[in-house]
Amino acid sequence: MPDYLETYRRRTPGSAALYERARRVMAGGVSHNPRYYPPYPIYIDRAEGSKVWDVDGNEYIDLWMGHYSHILGHKPEPVMRALRDVVEIGSHWGIPTSWQVEFAEDICRVVPTAEAVRFGVSGTEATMYAVRLARAYTGRPVILKVRGGWHGSGNELALAVHNPMDVPESAGLTPGTTEFTKTIDYNDTEGTLAAIRRHAPDLAGVILEAVGQYFVPPAPGYLEAVQAETRKAGAVFILDEVITGFRLALTGAQGRYGLRPDLTTMGKVLGAGSALGLVAGRRDLMDLASPTSGRPKGQGVLMGGGTFSAMLPAMRGGRALLRHLEAHQGEVYPALEEKGRRAREGVEAAIRAHGLQATCFGVGSLFSTCFPGDGRPLRNIEDIEAHTDVALRDREFKVRLLNHGVFAQWGGGAISMAHTDEDIERIIQAAGDVAAEMAAGR
Ligand SMILES: Cc1ncc(COP(=O)(O)O)c(C=O)c1O
Repeated sequence: MPDYLETYRRRTPGSAALYERARRVMAGGVSHNPRYYPPYPIYIDRAEGSKVWDVDGNEYIDLWMGHYSHILGHKPEPVMRALRDVVEIGSHWGIPTSWQVEFAEDICRVVPTAEAVRFGVSGTEATMYAVRLARAYTGRPVILKVRGGWHGSGNELALAVHNPMDVPESAGLTPGTTEFTKTIDYNDTEGTLAAIRRHAPDLAGVILEAVGQYFVPPAPGYLEAVQAETRKAGAVFILDEVITGFRLALTGAQGRYGLRPDLTTMGKVLGAGSALGLVAGRRDLMDLASPTSGRPKGQGVLMGGGTFSAMLPAMRGGRALLRHLEAHQGEVYPALEEKGRRAREGVEAAIRAHGLQATCFGVGSLFSTCFPGDGRPLRNIEDIEAHTDVALRDREFKVRLLNHGVFAQWGGGAISMAHTDEDIERIIQAAGDVAAEMAAGR
């Protein structure tokens, strides 16, 4: 067994034991695939600020941050205060509350293109409903998505996320489920515009994230060109802001890049750590889901998170966070930008200093690392999966970083306001120490 795995096992016997139990009662021992990595994940029992602690008492600087949810870090006081109030009040009533109205009003005030919203419980649902709205509005079937784009595990978008891109991400789909899901390459402007034109007569919508998978930044003009061509085709431009919403700016990626999506999907930061998804957008599109529209059956869109939509913790916690972000935006976003830049530049330089090739991608507080095999351009996930050592990053680099007290995902993660200068120095130091070990073959 390589030294670093021995070290990992020596440090984490409690996690190893929990994993053995978990495997017996959960498929693969986890409830969401990205939470597994070999030989077994750490199990944590405490989180605070920028840190998590595993059941063996090891401390880690956390870059995963609840799947990028915690923009202020773990347990930020404004959110905790709201959640403490909720504990006294109740958890869920399933009857409208003033809090959901106030939160929806706040979102419509802050998100540039949100004329109306609908709350659900996950980003998966939000993208599923956005696709449904686009099809109902246009009366057309085709959705274009980016190869490598992850919009959750819904049936029709469970295609072309990882190589090989033409094999659906899941078994168990009925034949034809993804027949009308067509793909484009992120940052390939010519190819994307050609695909939009080719599918125009049948095109319901284009769904994409402003920042590519593994946080590859958009090529200049790419997003604007896609938006314009989608409009020209009479299709719906859907911006998936589940990661970027309230993170790349208070106004999200749409504010940062000056985009005007017809529909926006959100989640993660929005719920401040409680389950929440959201579709927002043009009123005429959103009104397709209204029970008061008078549309005959079959012409209205079924949309809503079901039993647990707009639960109190998500409404109260999410609103408290949004209020905080709005009040402190002048401090929060420049700080996140600077912390993210320092982490990206520092980690890349620290690895290269040991003779290994490394590239850190990212925008704002988001970053990932990859280990390129040659000097080919890395424009999107297909390039990264074809021309960089993804297994090295997601297995060896990940576990070695854990041994050095850093929990990263895809070689990076999301910096929060709780990450101090010292934390960032420790992340950079850990990346350098890991690179030194790898270069020495230890
Ligand atoms: C861009 C994007 N869209 C949608 C989703 C799905 O969100 P959820 O995990 O809340 O279902 C994710 C989750 O990682 C995501 O990153």
